[in-house]
Amino acid sequence: VAAEKGEYRHFMQKEIHEQVRSLTDTLAGRVDFDEGTIRLPQLNLTPELARRIQRIYITACGTAAHAGMVGKILIERIARIPVEVDIASEFRYRDPIIDADTVVLAISQSGETADTLAAMDESRRKGATLWAIVNAIGSQAMRIADGYIAMQAGPEIGVASTKAFTAPLVDLYMLAILLGDLRGTLPETERKRLVADLRLIPDLVSRCLDREAEVVQVAREMRYIRNILYLGRGINMPIAYEGALKLKEISYIHAEAYPAGEMKHGPIALIDRDMPVLAIAPKDPWYEKMISQIEQAKARGGSVIAVATEGDERLPALCDHIFWVPDAPWMLSPVVTVIPLQLFAYHIAALRGLDVDQPRNLAKSVTVE
Ligand code: G6P
Repeated sequence: VAAEKGEYRHFMQKEIHEQVRSLTDTLAGRVDFDEGTIRLPQLNLTPELARRIQRIYITACGTAAHAGMVGKILIERIARIPVEVDIASEFRYRDPIIDADTVVLAISQSGETADTLAAMDESRRKGATLWAIVNAIGSQAMRIADGYIAMQAGPEIGVASTKAFTAPLVDLYMLAILLGDLRGTLPETERKRLVADLRLIPDLVSRCLDREAEVVQVAREMRYIRNILYLGRGINMPIAYEGALKLKEISYIHAEAYPAGEMKHGPIALIDRDMPVLAIAPKDPWYEKMISQIEQAKARGGSVIAVATEGDERLPALCDHIFWVPDAPWMLSPVVTVIPLQLFAYHIAALRGLDVDQPRNLAKSVTVE
């Protein structure tokens, strides 16, 4: 097993670095850069079905659910279809409103998570069209779906999911474009621009990984923290959840995530010198809102780490530490902003000497309820 990790100490670190390759593979064969079109043949999405869809439920657990939260924003923005994201263990018992014009889209790395499969069964009974975005080829979720997108992440060993998070982000972006195109809600020039942006992804991710040493430095300084609050807004709000989840899964540090605009309704009471804030504040449409939230956190004595776009001149003056990311089109920015957070969680846990690939009490795939 040691050999398979190559130059890396843990599978998680190797898998974080594999994202340049997995995202390159995610685009291969699906994106026609000349035509500006997307092909997802295994989804079995006909123009007739695309036009008929009234509502999409995305159902998933854990990290996959965070990808779904980004997908909601993308599909609503690009294809103008209402999307709800539902944790599978809730969805399966909620008697959701489903009819023949509903699509239920399950996202699962393993394709074997019990709650996600049960949510799919329930949706089938109620007559929905069932789609799945799955990494494990031949898994149950892939078999029972009417159509699927196979993540091109390759086998993921580390319990804390990384490359099987960014792959579905790009899959959902491509799905949103395809839906918008088939429904006629996405103008051609806009479609071509969105498709062209995909070409940037591998390089953007690679540039985030090049900054690993800077993240290690901050991890070293912060490795003994007991609590941390992750804040994000808009398309990067789910990245706050995902960053906090990574940290708690493998470092056992209490990390809480909040939509930044909700901070004033409770969590701001927690902020003091012992409660650092990690703010995801790239130059996206929510940037100005994030700045004012960071100012509020600072005013209460909290130390602030921000994920910021290279060249940003305001955040360095406001924050204690910066994780720099390259400028990215905002709808793809979560693919970029999550990378330093994966590295941060990884290095804190590794510096604390913890079993990164097999954290206590967690399983890679939860196949019982
Ligand atoms: C477990 C894993 C998580 C994963 C979740 C959903 O909790 O530890 O990393 O996100 O299950 O798994 P799935 O295979 O359905 O994506």
